[in-house]
Amino acid sequence: MKFFIDTADLDEIRDLAATGLIDGATTNPSLVAKAGGKFEDIIAEICAILPGPVSAEVAATDFETMVAEGRKLAKIAPNVTVKVPLTPDGLKACKTLTDDGTMVNVTLCFSAGQAILAAKAGATFVSPFIGRLDDIGLRGMDLIEDICTIYRAQPAFKTEVLVASVRSVGHVIDAAKAGAPVATLPPVVLRALYSHPLTDKGLAAFLSDWEKTGQSILGDDVPKPAAAE
Ligand code: G3P
Repeated sequence: MKFFIDTADLDEIRDLAATGLIDGATTNPSLVAKAGGKFEDIIAEICAILPGPVSAEVAATDFETMVAEGRKLAKIAPNVTVKVPLTPDGLKACKTLTDDGTMVNVTLCFSAGQAILAAKAGATFVSPFIGRLDDIGLRGMDLIEDICTIYRAQPAFKTEVLVASVRSVGHVIDAAKAGAPVATLPPVVLRALYSHPLTDKGLAAFLSDWEKTGQSILGDDVPKPAAAE
């Protein structure tokens, strides 16, 4: 399962890229507005930090302008994935952009029927927003399970399910169980995946017992801290 990071905050991306666990990034207009700065520069920076797919969303809603914006965004770096909304014009733009050889992420997917259309349009990724379905009293994970089942049953569909609007560790675990190939995680959820109180408690006990042995594994060979730049 691949993990993308769902933010346009460059400090967060640099920090989390250092974990070695991040395979790409997703942004959207709301995340870009929150981060501040020039959109193209932010995308270029993220693409330089992470070699995997980096989603950059078009702002237009009509086919011609979406394609023009998508082509401009795709020139920023080879790992740009153009994000288009799941609308008739968006799916038309998806087909044109994928025919160009550009990766496309079809966003704002809320039904299995929409996900079938995205696959028919040749999308590289489809982004079902599970948290927003939970918000209105539905079970977002049911949609992930349905789409994964459909895509498995249709080998001609090459689109990958990119689980989006992830709000909790439980969402990540359930998406993994459903066989979703990608999830995009807000930094807070990625960090929460590491946490367990028994890990903290167990480590504290091991360290305290080790201290009592009076030993040191490295002895004097303690690595020097990296020189400050
Ligand atoms: O990847 C889509 C995501 O950014 C939307 O998340 O929490 O705004 O529903 P949220």
